[in-house]
Amino acid sequence: MKFSNSRFIPHVSLLMLIIAAPFSAAQNAHLSIDVSKAGAKIDRNLFGQFAENLGHGLYEGIWVGPDSSIPNTRGIRNDVVTALKSLKVPNVRWPGGCFADQYHWRKGIGPAAQRPATLNSAWGGVVDTNSFGTDEFMDFMQQIGSQPYVSVNVGSGTPQEASEWLEYMTAAAPTALAKERAANGHPDPYKVGFMGIGNESWSCGGDMTADYYVSQLKIYSRFVDNLNPAQKSANQMLKIAVGPGFPETDWTEAVMKAWKSHDWSWNFDGLSVHWYTTPNGWPVSTPSVGFGRDDYDKTLKSTLFMDEFLRKQEAVMDRYDPEKKIALVVDEWGVWHAPLPGTNKDFLVQQNSLRDAILASLNLNIFARHADRVRVANIAQMVNVLQAMILTDKEKMVLTPTYYVFKMYVPFQDATFVPIDFDPGTLHRDGITLPRVDALAARDASGKLWIEITNLDPERPVDIDAQITGLTVKSAKGETLTASAVDSVNTFAAPNAVVPKPVSATVKDGRLALTVEPKSVTVISLEP
Ligand code: AHR
Repeated sequence: MKFSNSRFIPHVSLLMLIIAAPFSAAQNAHLSIDVSKAGAKIDRNLFGQFAENLGHGLYEGIWVGPDSSIPNTRGIRNDVVTALKSLKVPNVRWPGGCFADQYHWRKGIGPAAQRPATLNSAWGGVVDTNSFGTDEFMDFMQQIGSQPYVSVNVGSGTPQEASEWLEYMTAAAPTALAKERAANGHPDPYKVGFMGIGNESWSCGGDMTADYYVSQLKIYSRFVDNLNPAQKSANQMLKIAVGPGFPETDWTEAVMKAWKSHDWSWNFDGLSVHWYTTPNGWPVSTPSVGFGRDDYDKTLKSTLFMDEFLRKQEAVMDRYDPEKKIALVVDEWGVWHAPLPGTNKDFLVQQNSLRDAILASLNLNIFARHADRVRVANIAQMVNVLQAMILTDKEKMVLTPTYYVFKMYVPFQDATFVPIDFDPGTLHRDGITLPRVDALAARDASGKLWIEITNLDPERPVDIDAQITGLTVKSAKGETLTASAVDSVNTFAAPNAVVPKPVSATVKDGRLALTVEPKSVTVISLEP
């Protein structure tokens, strides 16, 4: 039998409408939030960042030099500083990464013209002018209002070199190194919030065994100190030991076992772990632009492993340290995609899409749920490298979707975690199962309740009904981050493709109601 086109098309359209309707109709999620059940503090340091001397992360991305035509303050880009100030970045880890274990700090102090050019053999073997050194990093910290997290060189350095670096930075007494700092224009000692003792010492940091690293850790922790009198009783610097970058727990076991029997002469405060989202494993191969639903699903599935990764390490730490004295420090995390075509593969350049923003919110929510142990985290990295906040090209700058997630989460810094009882639902497709929604709640110091909802479903909105007890809320307002496609990105030509926009929400009789768009991150504030 033959159908005439004119008769067939309306029937097909009707059928398609009937079939499509249930799939695009909103789903429902019920959240139950009891504010009286508040939990751990969501440490602001969970929103830290990582700025390694790698590719155009520091040079060009942050540092352009005082003679640049790009507007700058003492060589540091004004546009980047302004953007970062809005994120209230709590701490920045520098100078690496793998670079840290080959960095010799003395080459980066004093008059710029006298600093030697060296090779950055960790990242592409490019010439490093050393113009961005310790005093420039500290200036950058002061300009964006953040705390320094320095990684000392264990791999190719010595305890003496690291100890002298800390003395240069933090000594108040008139030692030769403090005087040298003053001669370089900085009479007052700097504050250093965190000190990493090596980086990935099981690999690029010297390929050490756990036992060998523990013996190094004891020596560095004993002899490398912060001398700033202002950090002696309050705001003490935290010493961070190297932990694993793999799910196995033998390394954590060895370090924590040693810690359990430490004496007065050495100690540390945090154990670093690194976990990147690499959906296809190594070498990385997922595209950061022009991908579809398959890559979206696979990447989000892969990133959710962070929860299990942390649980495994925490189980070992809990055995040796049930009081949770030692923080778990996730000082490298984020998605690692294939390098953008046409870029230097050693510079780790990738675009940043709505998918990556959703991924960032999922990880931040995981960290918040582990807030009793996870107290520091640093996304990799800050500018132009991996899952960056900011991309630059000469004088141009664009803020990424991940930047906006960090901005929307600022109210969660130091807020108190409030547990949410909810059924996340499921999304099944091609053998991959994802939760449909994720959510986080916290109460800030002023008493406001903040709720974040991530809708992972790229096709369907979700109607949220949240019952709030333990707090009478009067009004709600918020914003949402979404875009036309999961691979939408902000570019220099179109910088506003993925930016937050206001969302409407109502509160009545202790219930919050709103609809969250497909593939979105939404943050709502509720006024008591
Ligand atoms: O962030 C890039 C690199 O990833 C870091 O230098 C290293 O620590 C990790 O392997």
